Amino acid sequence: MDRIVVRPGPPLAGTVQVGGAKNACLKVMAASLLAPGRYVLDNVPRIIDVETMSDVLVAMGVDVRRSGPHQLTLDVPEELTPEAPYELVERMRASIIVLGPLLASCGVARVALPGGDDFGPRPIDMHLRGLEALGASFEAAHGYIEGRAEQLTGTRILLEFPSVGATENILMAAVRAKGVTVIDNAAREPEIADLAAFLDRMGARVTGAGTSTIHVEGVEELASVDHTLVPDRVEAATFLAAVGLARGEIFIEGARADHMDMLVQKLGEMGMRISPASGGLWAYSRGRLRAVDVATLPYPGIATDYKPLFVALLSVADGVGIVTENLFAGRFRYVDELTRMGADIRTEGNHAVVRGIDRLSGAPVRAPDIRAGAALVVAGLAADGETVVTDPQHVDRGYENLAGKLSSLGADVSRFND
Ligand code: UD1
Repeated sequence: MDRIVVRPGPPLAGTVQVGGAKNACLKVMAASLLAPGRYVLDNVPRIIDVETMSDVLVAMGVDVRRSGPHQLTLDVPEELTPEAPYELVERMRASIIVLGPLLASCGVARVALPGGDDFGPRPIDMHLRGLEALGASFEAAHGYIEGRAEQLTGTRILLEFPSVGATENILMAAVRAKGVTVIDNAAREPEIADLAAFLDRMGARVTGAGTSTIHVEGVEELASVDHTLVPDRVEAATFLAAVGLARGEIFIEGARADHMDMLVQKLGEMGMRISPASGGLWAYSRGRLRAVDVATLPYPGIATDYKPLFVALLSVADGVGIVTENLFAGRFRYVDELTRMGADIRTEGNHAVVRGIDRLSGAPVRAPDIRAGAALVVAGLAADGETVVTDPQHVDRGYENLAGKLSSLGADVSRFND
């Protein structure tokens, strides 16, 4: 059985390198559908979700190859097959992000409807309403959504909620629309600013990405470009949680403190010392952390993707912390696994009340999704005995060699593939 085995070890020490952001990479790959030509992407993480997005692009006629350990070369043809099949969307619901670029470049798109996932339903109504406002029309049939847009026309779109995916889908359609599009209440994640920077270099005219109001002046033509992806703030957060749990002093090379302000502040309140240094982030943790309350919010708030890491940290902190999930209903499934490790956690609706104990107790646990899986691995650093995390392929969707990177910091973490 594939598994990650964690045993208690010494405090962490050394330097670890953070990779390129998964959630920027997937969107930049989708954006390549906007113009034919060659794209060379750098700082591309070696993770399963990137492979899945590669498969999505290959199905459309794009030639995708790894041209270096962290480099991807995409050759986008003039003619695309504008369809994302079910077997790929089912593997990764973020595949829906091809909808906007396909409508903009082909005028049609046929994309399998994503189902829910482990943490509840994930609707795409805001994506569709935004694209409709630009002139697209949709029909759902046989599990697919079929979109058409003879001409996309710029308009003002006010999002009901700052959805990351909806903002990106609308943005990628708007760059080729006629006239000006204004996206209000846009999501502000750094990965959206990275996508906009990529689009700008392709010839798009986007201002305000990374703020709540994005202006897009549509252009007739875009061209292929090269791009280096921003670092992954969730991977960086995972190393911060690791040092919070195992204690020690580490340097996270490549991490951008300016993308993680609120997280750094919260972990500081818990007693960690984190400071930006040249080329990365230095983090130090000695002694037991203090409990705090945490509520997830769209950026710049505490990301929902950090939440399992906080629950793990609070499970051994001094005091009681309340964690509130404001984005995804029911994203607490991994709590049962932490409870198996001795954690004292009660969940009620979208709240988890975590009462810190001294040490967790190593146990066999199952990774339910990417982030919760990573949280279980780092929780094992604060557990007596052996923690065996099964279904590690969920972790591989978003982390390149998590076990190896933690081991390089002195942790006793091994990956077994049977
Ligand atoms: C992205 C990230 C994910 C992260 C999330 C929130 C990627 C590949 N994934 O997901 O890791 O956890 O942002 O930071 O980038 N919603 C609707 N209707 C819609 C769209 C969204 O109701 O049309 C709701 C969702 O159900 C959820 C909330 O809006 O409650 C936020 O979702 P959204 O920001 O869209 O997340 P994703 O883009 O799917």
